Amino acid sequence: MQELLSSLGPVTAVIGAQWGDEGKGKATDMLAEHYDIIGRACGGANAGHTIVIDGQKHVFHLLPSGCFHEGKQVVLGAGMVLHLPTLLEEIHTLKEHGIDILDRLHISPAAHIVFDYHREIDGALEQERTQKEGQGIGTTKRGIGPAYMDKAARTGMRMERMNEDLTGVLTQRRDWAQRVYGVHIDVDQECAHLREAAAVLQGRVADTVALLHFWMQEGKTVIVEGAQATLLDIDHGTYPYVTSSSTTAAGALQGLGVPPRSLTSCIGVAKAYCTRVGSGPFRTEMEEELGNRIREKGGEYGATTGRPRRCGWLHIPDLLRTVQINGFSQWNVTKLDVLDDEAEILVGVDEKDGNAVFETVPGWQTSTVGITHFEDLPEQAKSYITFIEEKTGVPVALIGTGPDREQMIVKA
Ligand code: GDP
Ligand code: IMO
Ligand code: MG
Repeated sequence: MQELLSSLGPVTAVIGAQWGDEGKGKATDMLAEHYDIIGRACGGANAGHTIVIDGQKHVFHLLPSGCFHEGKQVVLGAGMVLHLPTLLEEIHTLKEHGIDILDRLHISPAAHIVFDYHREIDGALEQERTQKEGQGIGTTKRGIGPAYMDKAARTGMRMERMNEDLTGVLTQRRDWAQRVYGVHIDVDQECAHLREAAAVLQGRVADTVALLHFWMQEGKTVIVEGAQATLLDIDHGTYPYVTSSSTTAAGALQGLGVPPRSLTSCIGVAKAYCTRVGSGPFRTEMEEELGNRIREKGGEYGATTGRPRRCGWLHIPDLLRTVQINGFSQWNVTKLDVLDDEAEILVGVDEKDGNAVFETVPGWQTSTVGITHFEDLPEQAKSYITFIEEKTGVPVALIGTGPDREQMIVKA
């Protein structure tokens, strides 16, 4: 671990390389123990990051996954969109586990507020798209797109206004939302949520850019937990089947207000296969029977919405693209154990006429669950990891062999 930590350096980002749910939460949680500051930079409660401690599962949507480690400073950056009742719920759940996060939580005043009406509009837009085009994006209906629409249109409300009486503005928004989208806004309820959040989060909205720079100058270390993933990025993803924020390493730095030059490493997180929730192209998608088997074995159901995830094989051209965009210094290949029963493993290595060209590598058909040393992996599993390293040109530093915090090989 020490060797890995020194190669990572003081500022690292954990970024998804596929369509989300790669296991960023687990990697961040595991590494956060060794960092002083943990940040989330973009997205909102569309994220669902799972960590498993001693067999007990916890899912985070807004707070970064490492916040179970006491004494770490936690930053929610300017690039985020925050649904305040969800944030309060997470703070409350942590408290029930005996963890008080409030005095170490720092929220950017520039982060945008997601109101319930954003969620209603998200639903209305999905319905409209489905009616017109036969299918929607398959969003998480957490109001993410509409909140970023307000942000880009400069009509959004930011955390700096949390203490204001927003009745007047919200009443105007109510009339507008009713007229344009036919959705109803309960202004009294939105205001009640705001007052409740303002009471709990008193003093927690602070100049997070200044704080981060102060800490970094003091020599403190930072880990940024990416949300969503590179193939869901608004610019570089499979548009329009993407989320509405910048989910790359650059987006994470922008979202926090930390200069790109300060990043010392960037861990790309990719499953040993691939999944996708929602609509959009998926060149290496498995046929039904195999997909069902992997879904059951891997527990591939959305951490936020519970939707079944589509399953497929790894796709090297996509991974190479994400390496180009993010400059990954290391991989965390997760869920290797989910392939334990497979006689052969397919990998998309190229594309022809829009279809994946597959190479087949032998499976290992023996359990890798809980293995923590690379040498203890079966030979075929080692070869598969080496194959990924050779094809992508990026070393694999971490390998997931189960959902629990401890079930990880530190290879570097
Ligand atoms: P995130 O959104 O990237 O943080 O990932 P999610 O939490 O949405 O989904 C990853 C799922 O895989 C969670 O249920 C994790 O507990 C689980 N998981 C993570 N790493 C591993 C692993 O190496 N093996 C297995 N079997 N499950 C894992
Ligand atoms: P984490 O951080 C997987 C997907 C949705 C949909 C598209 C747009 O847990 O990896 P949105 O609600 O953002 O407007 O939905 O993006 N999506 C995710 N898929 N993991 C996520 O987050 C996701 N966040 C959004 O399923 O296809
Ligand atoms: Mg997830």
